[in-house]
Amino acid sequence: MRVLVTGAEGMLGSVLLPRLQKKHHVCGVDQRDFDIGDESSVTRAFRELRPEFVFHLAAYTDVDGCEANPQKAEQVNALGTRHVARACADLGAGLLYISSDYVFDGRGKRPYREDDCPNPLSVYGLTKLRGERYVQALVARHIIVRSSWLYGPGGKNFVATILKLATERSELRVVSDQHGSPTYTRHLSLKLVELVANGAYGIFHVTGSGECSWHEFAVAILRSGGYPQVRVIPITTQESGRLAPRPAFSVLENLRLAESKLAPLPPWTQGLAEYLREI
Ligand SMILES: NC(=O)c1ccc[n+]([C@@H]2O[C@H](COP(=O)([O-])OP(=O)(O)OC[C@H]3O[C@@H](n4cnc5c(N)ncnc54)[C@H](OP(=O)(O)O)[C@@H]3O)[C@@H](O)[C@H]2O)c1
Repeated sequence: MRVLVTGAEGMLGSVLLPRLQKKHHVCGVDQRDFDIGDESSVTRAFRELRPEFVFHLAAYTDVDGCEANPQKAEQVNALGTRHVARACADLGAGLLYISSDYVFDGRGKRPYREDDCPNPLSVYGLTKLRGERYVQALVARHIIVRSSWLYGPGGKNFVATILKLATERSELRVVSDQHGSPTYTRHLSLKLVELVANGAYGIFHVTGSGECSWHEFAVAILRSGGYPQVRVIPITTQESGRLAPRPAFSVLENLRLAESKLAPLPPWTQGLAEYLREI
């Protein structure tokens, strides 16, 4: 199958690409090749490359940056996804789009299911949701995968940031009132390939198993990463002073994976152990 991956040089793309290359003719594209916010560039590139299936990973992922620059967020995350979806529809290609736990408001009392009503708090969450809507409206053969708290090689992520800070400071302040599920990109990319191979369709929640707060995640990183002496002070979201609002509880129930008899991802603690061995 001729497969195209957008955002191929991003954190998830850099892990997914080699995995896909074992089975498919894969072309990875990034911002250097063309801007997904520019419809004519997208159409031209897709007509040239003629993919049969597209993994659309490219996005403006800086959550606070999106809040400060909503026009860019709309252009890349919402309209960029519309351009990709239209180009897929033109060619009759299937499309897998990566969305986010930030489409939910986090006021729920139990893990969010695929058919729970989204209500994003941030510009990033809103524009990712608008991307979902374009995919659903334009591409018959689509999969929307909502994931959360990604970490892995080849990108800026929470684990790498905490380990770097641990070499510079004896005390870190980390938010303890946001809960979610950390997800290792190698585990996620395996499941993406499996979903496509199984002819899956519609929305799937795919995250590392289990949940924690950012504070608990930081403590686990420092303990397993060789910095148990670094103190982690719990702080509130308000104290963190971040620009974009974030959901307090964005744990996703991976219900459709279970209904489809597909194994859940390993626990996030296992993903963390594997990542730490890798680096
Ligand atoms: N990171 C998370 O915790 C998380 C959680 C849930 C869902 N997701 C979603 O998962 C996907 C992959 O995330 P990631 O963490 O791997 O992201 P990432 O490392 O930030 O990579 C995003 C990629 O998109 C490219 N890109 C950005 N703007 C573009 C544009 N206008 N035209 C073409 N390419 C553009 C970037 O290229 P440049 O590097 O050249 O800018 C980069 O290669 C995204 O769709 C994200 O929304 C991420």
